[in-house]
Amino acid sequence: MTEQDIAAQAEALRRQIEYHNYRYYVLDDPEIPDAEYDRLMRELQALEQAHPEIITPTSPTQRVGAKPREGFREVRHEVPMLSLNNCFSEDELRAFDRRVREGLKVDEAIEYVAEPKLDGLAVSLIYEQGELVLAATRGDGYTGEDVTANVRTIESVPLRLFGDHLPARLDVRGEVYMPVAGFRALNEAARKKGEKEFVNPRNAAAGSLRQLDPAITATRPLAMYCYAIGQVEGVALAETHHGQLMQLRDWGLRVSSEIERVKGVEGCLQYYQRMGERRASLPFEIDGVVYKVNRIDWQETLGYVSRAPRWAIAHKFPAQEEMTRVLDVEFQVGRTGALTPVARLEPVFVGGVTVSNATLHNMDEVERKDIRIGDYVIVRRAGDVIPEVVSVVLSKRAADVRKVELPTHCPVCGSAVIRLEGEAVARCSGGLYCPAQRRESIKHFASRKAMDIEGLGDKLVEQLIDNGLVEHVDDLYRLTVEQLVTLERMGEKSAKNLLDALEKSKHTTLARFIYALGIREVGEATARALAAHFRSLDKLREASEEDLQQVPDVGPVVAGHIHTFFRQPHNLEVIDHLIETGVHWDEPEAPQAEALPLQDKTFVLTGALQNMTRDEAAEALAALGARVTSSVSKKTSAVIVGDKPGSKLTKAEKLGVTVLDEAAFRELLENPENAASLSGE
Ligand code: IVH
Repeated sequence: MTEQDIAAQAEALRRQIEYHNYRYYVLDDPEIPDAEYDRLMRELQALEQAHPEIITPTSPTQRVGAKPREGFREVRHEVPMLSLNNCFSEDELRAFDRRVREGLKVDEAIEYVAEPKLDGLAVSLIYEQGELVLAATRGDGYTGEDVTANVRTIESVPLRLFGDHLPARLDVRGEVYMPVAGFRALNEAARKKGEKEFVNPRNAAAGSLRQLDPAITATRPLAMYCYAIGQVEGVALAETHHGQLMQLRDWGLRVSSEIERVKGVEGCLQYYQRMGERRASLPFEIDGVVYKVNRIDWQETLGYVSRAPRWAIAHKFPAQEEMTRVLDVEFQVGRTGALTPVARLEPVFVGGVTVSNATLHNMDEVERKDIRIGDYVIVRRAGDVIPEVVSVVLSKRAADVRKVELPTHCPVCGSAVIRLEGEAVARCSGGLYCPAQRRESIKHFASRKAMDIEGLGDKLVEQLIDNGLVEHVDDLYRLTVEQLVTLERMGEKSAKNLLDALEKSKHTTLARFIYALGIREVGEATARALAAHFRSLDKLREASEEDLQQVPDVGPVVAGHIHTFFRQPHNLEVIDHLIETGVHWDEPEAPQAEALPLQDKTFVLTGALQNMTRDEAAEALAALGARVTSSVSKKTSAVIVGDKPGSKLTKAEKLGVTVLDEAAFRELLENPENAASLSGE
């Protein structure tokens, strides 16, 4: 081949790769499998390596490669990067719309383009003759920083534009952000290495984009959506904002598919409502929505006030982060005696609710975040996630803040608190002598996945204990209507219902019974595996630690917990009493001569499925003989991913474990005999 042929071949490969990037990142509609894409990439790399003279700066192989710098060069924006005015209520939105109509002297409902307001950082991209030549941060709106080398590492930013009618010069604006899943995985990795975590996805995106070494930026999961044109030369633009966004998309730039045209304030409000409901399940964080007058001539008529357009407004959601004070830190005792520090907070409205408590997880976490009583802290509540203390505002720390001390004795029963070497968790040594542990173990026993005693919720359990009607789980089955009606707000009818539910719960399965016992680190999956392996409670009771380790997923630690549990006379007594009062289950059948189709397969579920709950999915798998576990390893047969998958997906990809989406999963449930093609050992 001549030099020219080789250069042409490389160019053809680049075009293909760019096209598939576009399908994947911009259209969200990949045409070829990842493996095929990787093959194209490797082919191009090999070609360029053999002939370095054919490498071009916009080649997809050249995203990373620039050397670390000393600092960032300043860039002046030819067209300033403006900001938006905000509104927080329907009234303010109506006032905005009124000003728009007055300014335009029209009475009709205005057509707006409604867009998600991404929570990242604004960036301007300059393309000359279709090639990315500059990327700059917004800075103060007039002068930003040159982050070209870093932005080049973001796969959803094309290094070259597409099509025949490209602008000679284009200044396009958009938001660089970090997807929530990527943010979680990044923080989890940082936590494991004992490094500092990022406070939120926006800070993570900003921190990643301002790395001096682009090789580090390249490892960060950044993405970009474009939302406006700053300047263009050499082509005619569409006459509407929406039309321009479609032009951007045709040139290969990524535009959010959540963007919609809406009519008038009512349309805006409906969009706001819809996005608000979906906020927690979107793969990226938004702090509101933006409405923009669609007609460009109308935008021009309206113009600007100071630094914001009169033709656009941001409609903000309630903040997910607020600052408040730690009034005290108390310790809660859980079912296994674990002491959990809980921050009592000055009540603060965040993420749509008033928060006055937040778990601090354990003492390691308290020390790592250096949280002290009296500190000002940032509290975050995203979606229905439990509120958490993200960080301390050190600049506001007073001299009289107090360190959080782990109590030496259980705050509930006074037994000694033990924290084993190398363990993050401290525990009350009181066992079932401790009322708090007893209370939690009874709640656990009654819960849906355990004995499933309908109507016996946490509140009622507390009432029963406080009134001295129940001390241990077996006492539940000795309750009478006469006793129950003495409780506050308990009529005869509800008392009878509860007794019926208790009676019904007596017929259970061995797996549920084992789980209900609340043995440390024996979750549902392990309980199921134990039931399947031993098939009788007596055999499980007598099993040695070695026997126990024969069960899949049971290691020395869990085997130790199980063994110890069945050596406590008190526990055996409770079990015997339960069986005496009539708790029973059918002996699990011996393994069938013909094995179940997913007999030796292990699955992990992550993210929300559309058509079934996680529990239903786990049950369906178990019915086919599969095991469901919570962590991904090389032995995992497949990871089933729904919406908003967590770090498990990243891990599966890293380990080369099969990943199934919901459709593929349904397919598997229908034809489980096809499971042979899954990964795992
Ligand atoms: S338009 C002239 N659209 O919000 C209008 N901005 O407060 C310029 N942002 O700095 C901005 N999503 O970082 C626009 N769909 C969207 C946006 C958006 C997020 C950010 C952007 C800007 C800030 C304005």
